[in-house]
Amino acid sequence: MDDLRGKYLELIAGASEEGALEDLRVQAVGKKGEISLKMRELGKMSPEERQVAGPALNALKDEINAALAAKKAALADAALNERLKTEWLDVTLPTRPMRQGTIHPISQVTEEITAIFAEMGFTVAEGPQIDTDWYNFDALNIPGHHPARAEMDTFYMHRAEGDERAPHVLRTHTSPVQIRHMEKNGAPCRVIAPGRVYRADYDQTHTPMFHQVEGLAIDRDISMANLKWVLEEFFSAFFEIDGIKTRFRASHFPFTEPSAEVDIQCSWEDGQLKIGEGDGWLEVLGSGMVHPKVLQAAGVNPDEWQGFAFGMGIDRISMLKYGIPDLRAFFDSDLRWLRHYGFASLDVPTLHGGLSR
Ligand code: PHE
Repeated sequence: MDDLRGKYLELIAGASEEGALEDLRVQAVGKKGEISLKMRELGKMSPEERQVAGPALNALKDEINAALAAKKAALADAALNERLKTEWLDVTLPTRPMRQGTIHPISQVTEEITAIFAEMGFTVAEGPQIDTDWYNFDALNIPGHHPARAEMDTFYMHRAEGDERAPHVLRTHTSPVQIRHMEKNGAPCRVIAPGRVYRADYDQTHTPMFHQVEGLAIDRDISMANLKWVLEEFFSAFFEIDGIKTRFRASHFPFTEPSAEVDIQCSWEDGQLKIGEGDGWLEVLGSGMVHPKVLQAAGVNPDEWQGFAFGMGIDRISMLKYGIPDLRAFFDSDLRWLRHYGFASLDVPTLHGGLSR
């Protein structure tokens, strides 16, 4: 038995691959293996001999099996190490510069606007792009017969005949977010709501989908003076020009009273537009004090609360800031245009880091 042990342990130790191990297993402990045959001989022994030889043979069989398993694991380990060596990779190597994708100017400007208003304590509110006509019109003091409904060139969602659900529209402005936000959060509040809006209109300066940012600030004593300060602060930061002046012109919106259209100071010289200087004016947004009926519709008591709202076209101020001549190009998905006007994806705009490095 000692001879058998010595022989197989040596052979197992010397095996260099799994196939050889399997041959050894068959040879030693397989059905007709050397050790198995010895076990059959137990029957011919006297009971005394058997009592000694039986357990010893079983122990030998276990020892050989254990040696086979250990060697098999060692061979697998060695094979894995060999493979890892050939597949070695230096993860500290620098990457090749990849300049495939860019951030769309609208996304960039939306981030810039958010960063500036965040600094002034405004958070971002959102609402659905498909909304009921109650949020888009009625709650904003635009009743069914109001001309503003027709003027907005609204896209209505198709309804099967007999469908009694409230009519849904593609929102024509971001103002419905005012209602949704106040309904949920009440007053006081200070939010902006950037997003897509839709009107059935298409020419050089209009696309059926465009972008607005709504502003809303409600508290006990907020006035038009606060609105003017906030907007001038915003435009100076956005255009990165100190002290941009605004001009308020009386206007009319059903959801604000009083209402004003706001222009920013600019000059035209040799066809060159310059923001923040000269005696020209450029219209950039609509605004006013939130109408009491609007507060009421949103569940806010107009005897207690008041504030301002404004709505500004994001596409328009993007064109002004980055010298983009044609609105429609924003939405053509032309790769050459995107590479030219797009922004590096890791330059997140912040006020302290410079908005548009
Ligand atoms: N919703 C208006 C528009 O789309 C803009 C606006 C918003 C005006 C808020 C006043 C107050 O033209």
